[in-house]
Amino acid sequence: MTSVASSMPGKLPPGPRGLPVFGSLLELRQDTHLAIDRLARRYGDICLMRFGSVPTVIISEPELLQEAFGKTELADRWVSEIMDILSGQQDLVLAPYGEHWRRMQRFANRELLSARNLNTVRERHIESVVNNLVERMADLGDAGQLVSPPAMTAQSNSTLMFRALFGREEDSSEEFLQMRDALLGYIHWLFANATATNLADYIPWLRFLPNNGVKEAVRQAEVSSGVITALVDAARNRHGLDLSAPACLVEVMLAQEETGEISDTMTRRLCMDLMIAGTDTSAQTVNWLLLILANRPEIQARVHAELDAVVGRDALPTVDDRMRLPYTFACLAESMRYRTIGPLGLPHKASEDTEIGGYRIPAGAQVLGNVYSIHHDPRYWDSPHEFIPERFLPQADGSPSAAFTGIAYTPFGTGHRRCPGRRFAETTVWLHVTRILHRLRLETPDGGVLPEDEVFGLAISPRPYSLRVGRRW
Ligand code: HEM
Repeated sequence: MTSVASSMPGKLPPGPRGLPVFGSLLELRQDTHLAIDRLARRYGDICLMRFGSVPTVIISEPELLQEAFGKTELADRWVSEIMDILSGQQDLVLAPYGEHWRRMQRFANRELLSARNLNTVRERHIESVVNNLVERMADLGDAGQLVSPPAMTAQSNSTLMFRALFGREEDSSEEFLQMRDALLGYIHWLFANATATNLADYIPWLRFLPNNGVKEAVRQAEVSSGVITALVDAARNRHGLDLSAPACLVEVMLAQEETGEISDTMTRRLCMDLMIAGTDTSAQTVNWLLLILANRPEIQARVHAELDAVVGRDALPTVDDRMRLPYTFACLAESMRYRTIGPLGLPHKASEDTEIGGYRIPAGAQVLGNVYSIHHDPRYWDSPHEFIPERFLPQADGSPSAAFTGIAYTPFGTGHRRCPGRRFAETTVWLHVTRILHRLRLETPDGGVLPEDEVFGLAISPRPYSLRVGRRW
């Protein structure tokens, strides 16, 4: 059991006493980020609460957050029992701060997700998956059917990540396609099951009771490890493989294995990292913006007008258009603030006693960056609960808005564990939203306003919704 006793002198952050055994856990089980927002407003920019037996520090002020997550003492991950079973804490997302994590992180940032490799997979794989999605949406609209963006973007984002990783499917064997389906099935299971709160993570004696979730996790860990090994081996043995010109991300990794930069285990772990960290996050970001614009026809009309004026009807929007489409870009940036898909980021852990903002953070504490509260804090944002793209319009000299570059805007996290997939996400999300809006008009089914309340999960999602979709020309 983790205790808040510590050798370092100094005051612990203030916070609620909570209930015996449970601490603040029961209060936080529903709409966790909103409950934490309420507690943070009561107890201040840095506060301490107990999730069962786990001391949890919540940081709700951008400068403190930058300081905290820039410290190596707070760069470990707090990992649940089920995620531990699934990952063995060997992957980039969940590995503790240290040499193994650093090698993967350096490789992911400098090579794997570099602009060069991203361009290759965008041209070969990503654009065609997005174009296909737009056409399918348009066809459904033509047939008078409602379109469900959440279902369709879930599929397009996992397909495009799979293809970016493992290459084309068209020329693949039946066996390869079965492995693809098995991997996508595992990712689907993980999103649906492995991210829910498991009380045994916080109340250790519950671990002695039978737990079907844990049993299933052990089974899934075996299955998924077999599938990923088989997929990487299939890539390794692919006929005509030329590692001097990698055509997909697994080939980039295999090339680096040859130089000894990364190991075979790291390749497998990184494939899993990208499938898990890079699919639902991007899909939910697209889902939010489409919903928000369907609810606001006047803002959508301005996006359409900008796309028509800048891109026209004879071309498609590209990743290079971001500066030329400032209003569309501002809508995307504002939607990532207004509906922050990672409201508490991913949990960090204090590897040793340290100090933030004059308070003692005890070793073993879980540390959460309260990005939701920072993104809705009236100290940094006027009318924070309204959707106002104008705050992200560039300045008069063309430089990015102060809101975009300021430290109170942090959808991708900050410090050592900040998101290495930012460039990848910005590319895929941008292509999704601009190509959908370039071609289609989105309306709510009955002309009313659809709810924009948030469903808490690995990535915060809107409630499932459907839209009426029409071709614009
Ligand atoms: C809009 C989409 C995305 C958002 C908002 C997002 C946000 C985040 C956040 C908040 C974190 C945690 C930062 C922290 O721990 O302090 C994170 C971590 C991570 N993200 Fe993303 N992400 C997105 C897409 C992606 C994509 C597309 C990839 C892969 C291509 C990716 C890969 C990762 C990885 C590997 C980590 C773990 C880094 C580490 O622990 O060292 N993410 N992301």
